Amino acid sequence: VEGTAERRADTLRAGFVQTVPRFGDLEGNLRRARELAERAPEFDVLVLPELFSTGYAFVDRREAEGLAEELTGPTCSWLRAVASERRGWVVGGFAERAGSRLFNSAALVGPAGEIHVYRKIHLFDREKDLFDAGDAPFAAIPIRTERGTVLVGLMICFDWFFPESARSLALDGAEVLLHPSNLVLDKCQGAMPTRCLENRVFAVTANRSGEDDRGPLRIAFTGRSQITAPDGAVLASAPAEGEATEVVELDLAAARDKHVTAGNDLLADRRPDMYRTAR
Ligand code: ACM
Repeated sequence: VEGTAERRADTLRAGFVQTVPRFGDLEGNLRRARELAERAPEFDVLVLPELFSTGYAFVDRREAEGLAEELTGPTCSWLRAVASERRGWVVGGFAERAGSRLFNSAALVGPAGEIHVYRKIHLFDREKDLFDAGDAPFAAIPIRTERGTVLVGLMICFDWFFPESARSLALDGAEVLLHPSNLVLDKCQGAMPTRCLENRVFAVTANRSGEDDRGPLRIAFTGRSQITAPDGAVLASAPAEGEATEVVELDLAAARDKHVTAGNDLLADRRPDMYRTAR
């Protein structure tokens, strides 16, 4: 990863906002998320859920297209405004229109308007009918904070189910995984300690709660947004229902030392030549 020669930060104030969006109410959802973000204590990076401005349960691709936006659209403008106002990085999910393609994306926006976009690689269930799968590999992103530079990695919701997601980001140097989510399954919160332990990284999973009731299509979400440490400890956990905002100061030394024992470095000890699926 380039751009990391400068001072590395020792700590990162990282947090999540857990929302309960109303499907299709872009303006109302952004207004409410703004109120919640404004309540957050000072942060270096704040994570909002997947598709937090639109809601999740699009009935078909046409409906998703109608609510999709480009990087100049209302959701990315919202992220820019909050990042600038709060002098921190803000990441959240949105339906991204790119020509005739449609992605389930997350934009990470910095206080000076810097922007990085991740397009969800592992689409969940019906999402395959709605979105195109992400077209760029997992990559660590250096973000500059007033305390120095930190390497973060973006993944979205169901990406958690594929250990390769977190592993690829860790191998690329990511110290903190930023994980906007709309979790439907209830197993991710229990799995993230393992993802963090096996990669010695932190993770901030920002989930939504409530449900999208679209007539015959009804999808409920599991809340319990979570911040997880490299030793598998859960540093913060939101309730299953309702809204929540949490910010935790992360000690990044824990993510930079990849030793498991004095004689084992979990990245150096990998044996890719023995892994038949490692390509
Ligand atoms: C999910 O990937 N939103 C379940």
